[in-house]
Amino acid sequence: MIRFDILSTFPEMFDSPFSSSLLKKAQEKGLVQICLHNIRDYTEDRHRMTDDAPYGGGGGMLMKVEPVDKTLRSIGADREAIPIVLLTPQGQVFNQAVAEELSRHSRIVLLCGHYEGVDERIRTKLANREISIGDYVLTGGELPAMILVDAVSRLVPGVLGNAESASEDSLSFGLLEYPQYTRPSEYRGWSVPEVLLSGHHKLITEWRRKEALKRTWLRRPDLIEKMELTEEDRKFLRE
Ligand code: ADE
Repeated sequence: MIRFDILSTFPEMFDSPFSSSLLKKAQEKGLVQICLHNIRDYTEDRHRMTDDAPYGGGGGMLMKVEPVDKTLRSIGADREAIPIVLLTPQGQVFNQAVAEELSRHSRIVLLCGHYEGVDERIRTKLANREISIGDYVLTGGELPAMILVDAVSRLVPGVLGNAESASEDSLSFGLLEYPQYTRPSEYRGWSVPEVLLSGHHKLITEWRRKEALKRTWLRRPDLIEKMELTEEDRKFLRE
């Protein structure tokens, strides 16, 4: 069971992605809990402002520290005990290893930045971690938060069925997925590799490993450099 608290000024953005498919089932099964909090509910000024102009001038608006702090306190988010993650292009780049690490926590808070940035005190005094989902800039942290919730939730035991278990993920052992086929075995003359129809499990496993290695080598040589290869893998790559 894992609980996500998501702080956003646009909590309605999360409605549809979290109410379909596997994430919906995971919540119904009580394996994943997603709590949305509207930062605007914690403003006290007349205009209910969640952003303001930067000191020192310059364009753009910054997310204010006070409503974020008040939201965090009202939900009892303890900075010493749980990850309080600010989604920002300045953060650590998210990948499968980060998802695995986060999935070992029972509660995670996600702060979705918006506007041109956030008051630095959100970064240094409230959050204890910053994550980017990649080197491109989005309009806000909501889509990044959804991606993180999705990637972390599917690692929680029980969220995926046995058949699709996350330990089978190609990336969990460092390679891209091998090619897969389903019926029919031939369509418009496009046929399925013979070995997959052979019923010979050892040959199939070997074929898949080699195809995964080949594909990773061609498309993502950076992944090959990072992973631990068996002697057999090395031999195959040398050939
Ligand atoms: N907010 C805007 N762009 C982002 C990104 N690439 N990752 C995380 N948060 C963001």
